[in-house]
Amino acid sequence: MIGEARELTVELGDRSYPIYIGSGLIRGVGQVFRDRDFPVQAPVLLVTDASVANLFAAKVEESLTGAGYHVTRAVVPSGENSKSLEMLDQLVETALKAGLDRQSTVIALGGGVVGDLAGFLAASYMRGVRFVQMPTTILAHDSSVGGKVAVNHRLAKNIIGAFHQPEFVLYDLDTLSSLPTREVRAGLSEVIKHGLIWNKEFVNWCEDNVERLLGLEPDALGYALYEAVV
Ligand SMILES: NC(=O)c1ccc[n+]([C@@H]2O[C@H](COP(=O)([O-])OP(=O)(O)OC[C@H]3O[C@@H](n4cnc5c(N)ncnc54)[C@H](O)[C@@H]3O)[C@@H](O)[C@H]2O)c1
Repeated sequence: MIGEARELTVELGDRSYPIYIGSGLIRGVGQVFRDRDFPVQAPVLLVTDASVANLFAAKVEESLTGAGYHVTRAVVPSGENSKSLEMLDQLVETALKAGLDRQSTVIALGGGVVGDLAGFLAASYMRGVRFVQMPTTILAHDSSVGGKVAVNHRLAKNIIGAFHQPEFVLYDLDTLSSLPTREVRAGLSEVIKHGLIWNKEFVNWCEDNVERLLGLEPDALGYALYEAVV
């Protein structure tokens, strides 16, 4: 457990991994790297998009460098168009220039677009390196868990991809407060959809707590995301 995080485990035998959900978790990411024995000498690539970079990248870097890691930031344009082979090619170039090796880690800091793109980079660079998910949208509660990673082809979405599980998922609820209302509503509707399929009581709870959820109250949101991921 880090700080006040809710923690759950994705059970995959010796590839099981934790999901941390809570407020203020970004500042602990360096410590999680140390606790989980990520090698300090191996460079880390932080992949993020232009909107998210301005908001949170410096905090992630500060935590990692404070724990002794060398981090290179790669910023892609915000939006679905970044899930492309052209962008992957640019990221491979950045990774090579930054000296990423087989012991290295690729971090996805952003929504589902960054998660899918950075995840596919991690799955394919040197035939697979460590991958960490730091989701910053509500919708990414779905995309950051399960290991499905992909880029688009001009003829089809998500058509070039792989399964590559993260080492851990760190979901800092504080990052969600800058989300545009449209993204909040779209993400919450996915959370409720999960409940409609799996858990009627949870749907009732969402109904009773809709104002708290729309107001992004950390307690309510943390519980809802936990239930949606379980
Ligand atoms: N791999 C999977 O299992 C899976 C599952 C569902 C969806 N997806 C993929 O996820 C993608 C959609 O994800 P998304 O809805 O998160 O979109 P997104 O990643 O494009 O993010 C939406 C917008 O919000 C901005 N943003 C992100 N975090 C922010 C924050 N904290 N504050 C302010 N702005 C922020 C982004 O810059 C972007 O403009 C699609 O490409 C879809 O295919 C993948």
